[in-house]
Amino acid sequence: MSPFDLVIRGGTVVTATDLYAADIGVRDGRIVAIGEDLPAGREELDARGLLVLPGGVDSHCHIEQLAATGLVNADTFETATASAALGGTTTVIPFVAQHVGTSLAAVAEDYHRRAERGAIVDYAFHLILADPRPEILKDELPPLVRAGHASLKVFLTYDRLVIDDEQLLDVLEAARSHGLMVCVHAENHGMIRWMGRRLVERGFTHPRFHVPSHPRIGEVEAIHRAIACAALLDQPIMIFHVSTAEGAATIHRARGEGRKVWGETCTQYLTLTSAELDRPGIEGAKWICSPPLRDPADQEALWWALEVGTLQCVSSDHAPYRMDATGKLAKGPNPSFKEIANGMPGLELRLPVLFDAMVSRGRLGLKKFVELTATAPAAIYGLHPRKGTIAPGSDADLVLWDAERKVTIEDAPRTDRAGYTPYAGRTVKGWPRHVLLRGRPIVRDGTLLGTPGEGRFLPRRGGWAAVPTGRPAPEFDPARNFGARLW
Ligand code: URP
Ligand code: ZN
Ligand code: ZN
Repeated sequence: MSPFDLVIRGGTVVTATDLYAADIGVRDGRIVAIGEDLPAGREELDARGLLVLPGGVDSHCHIEQLAATGLVNADTFETATASAALGGTTTVIPFVAQHVGTSLAAVAEDYHRRAERGAIVDYAFHLILADPRPEILKDELPPLVRAGHASLKVFLTYDRLVIDDEQLLDVLEAARSHGLMVCVHAENHGMIRWMGRRLVERGFTHPRFHVPSHPRIGEVEAIHRAIACAALLDQPIMIFHVSTAEGAATIHRARGEGRKVWGETCTQYLTLTSAELDRPGIEGAKWICSPPLRDPADQEALWWALEVGTLQCVSSDHAPYRMDATGKLAKGPNPSFKEIANGMPGLELRLPVLFDAMVSRGRLGLKKFVELTATAPAAIYGLHPRKGTIAPGSDADLVLWDAERKVTIEDAPRTDRAGYTPYAGRTVKGWPRHVLLRGRPIVRDGTLLGTPGEGRFLPRRGGWAAVPTGRPAPEFDPARNFGARLW
């Protein structure tokens, strides 16, 4: 009787810290042995000539989410997680999206129901708080934390989602008392509205004007403000989708001062620029996302920030909308940039595009690729070591990766329902061949085998903010002067 359900034989194992040749033994969905010449498993998977990577962890993606505009993302849990699996991502963290006036608990139940039915990969949720009124924070949040939710998201812009500084402090205080991470969409709302209005009044409505309507300084201001509010309460925060050199520098300085701030950027900010929006007609709408795509110099700064650890994760911010009346063109065939839904698809191509940029083209290298796309997001959001690494006891979420395979990305619909990809025409080197979720192949030779409902919810007990004893942190008490030097 074999000690292993499966042995992955002869591959090159890569983690955030190591690279070595080894076999991997899997039992009951977990890695139970890593070594040379492991005994035969009940099943065997030949990994000779392939890299064996931890399954990707995409810690920021919008799936089947109702936006404040009333639009829902183009894909479902099934299509989004199918595309994740095909791209080598085995864990996703999408959102439970509360809107003003709604119950967070009811919304969470709804997202759970849909994910349970459709998800092909494992998942956790960030809870979006658009209406952090006292009964939500005091009555609805604690049971959700007990049920395994460990991170929140707030928006400092977007009509109907934006919260003010006082509300932000309420959220940070609640997060502190439960040991939760708070993720922040940091852009200055007033600047965006003011610029947008001025541009449209002067007839500048083409998609390219989305870029100046989200001023760079607005990202810096909001990042700085979020860090200041978090520092007042000594509460860890994660700045989502950093797009500018100055935004990264703001985080860099704050970390140097000992602030508990982490940072994320996304595939698109590293590999696409605002030039994409200059295309004739409405075509540039495909590349409208917020914050907007920026300049080559920003890309360099973001790569540097990832290299030195100022930013720790690269996510997709997958937010697909079709180029039709259900999505980007919901306000008609020729909308102004202000009327175009924000977001682009990215779950499937995140790892291939980043592998090409980071490994095949020699930037940062293999171990850092694993760190930024799997290990660090798992660690920051309380999923490590179950997810994001290859170690005895970890879930056998593995990608057998062909580092030599070249693929030209076609200008054609992919598995998600966006109907286009922002990376069309690009040739990338490196592609996932087989993908395992808890030891079961969900992709074999590039063909999807995973079935809807196979993905499981991952309850968490907090990320960096978690209190090791499991005791809740004390409530913020101004009399105890937690924010010492900031009063
Ligand atoms: O444009 C984007 N990123 N849409 C998704 C929502 C968000 O702000 O993350
Ligand atoms: Zn955002
Ligand atoms: Zn997002």
